[in-house]
Amino acid sequence: MKNTQITSHPRRFLFLLASSRAQGNTEQLARYAAKFLPAEVKQEWINLHDYDMPDFVDQRHTGDGEYPAPQGAMRELLDATLSATDLVFVTPLYWYSLPASAKKYLDHWSGWMRVPGYDFKEKMRGRRLWNVTVTADEDQSYAQALVDSLRLTAGYMDMPWNGSLIGYGNRPGEIVQDVSALERAAKYFV
Ligand SMILES: Cc1cc2nc3c(=O)[nH]c(=O)nc-3n(C[C@H](O)[C@H](O)[C@H](O)COP(=O)(O)O)c2cc1C
Repeated sequence: MKNTQITSHPRRFLFLLASSRAQGNTEQLARYAAKFLPAEVKQEWINLHDYDMPDFVDQRHTGDGEYPAPQGAMRELLDATLSATDLVFVTPLYWYSLPASAKKYLDHWSGWMRVPGYDFKEKMRGRRLWNVTVTADEDQSYAQALVDSLRLTAGYMDMPWNGSLIGYGNRPGEIVQDVSALERAAKYFV
């Protein structure tokens, strides 16, 4: 069953904030980039820390391997995910990788794919994946594992991957001094 919703307009961008602090560099860079989205593009911003995500339990090979329909916070996250044509992971670099909140959210995709009748993987096909990240090192190659994990996830899910917008900053607000990142941000979504 093909999902036709993704080809209809308008586009809806879901920004998934994953930093463990408020209004950090990554969110600032993402909000700056989002200013350049056309006005008709809908934007939803959610902070993954606002959702009480249970630990993901791997029951793929237990019993029938199926998962029950998600409830509560996970149901809200699933609905937000499926309402978006474009998902933007707003993820500072933590230990060369994704922050735990973003990783946990992604782990739950494995369950959502196995809820009978949901067709989650089928529905996600064709939705676009984006990433904004900020590192405390000027050498962007340290973000490679984070970038690759999202790029490969996009490939697995058959979602077009748009590459990462990578900025440099450590203390909150330092990102505004990264002129190169701001220039790239202005063109990232357009
Ligand atoms: C738990 C943790 C791990 C981090 N690991 C790295 C890292 O591996 N490489 C790096 O360059 N910066 C690392 N940083 C620094 C952050 O990426 C940097 O401060 C960034 O600006 C934070 O973004 P935010 O303000 O959006 O939270 C780490 C910060 C924290 C809190």
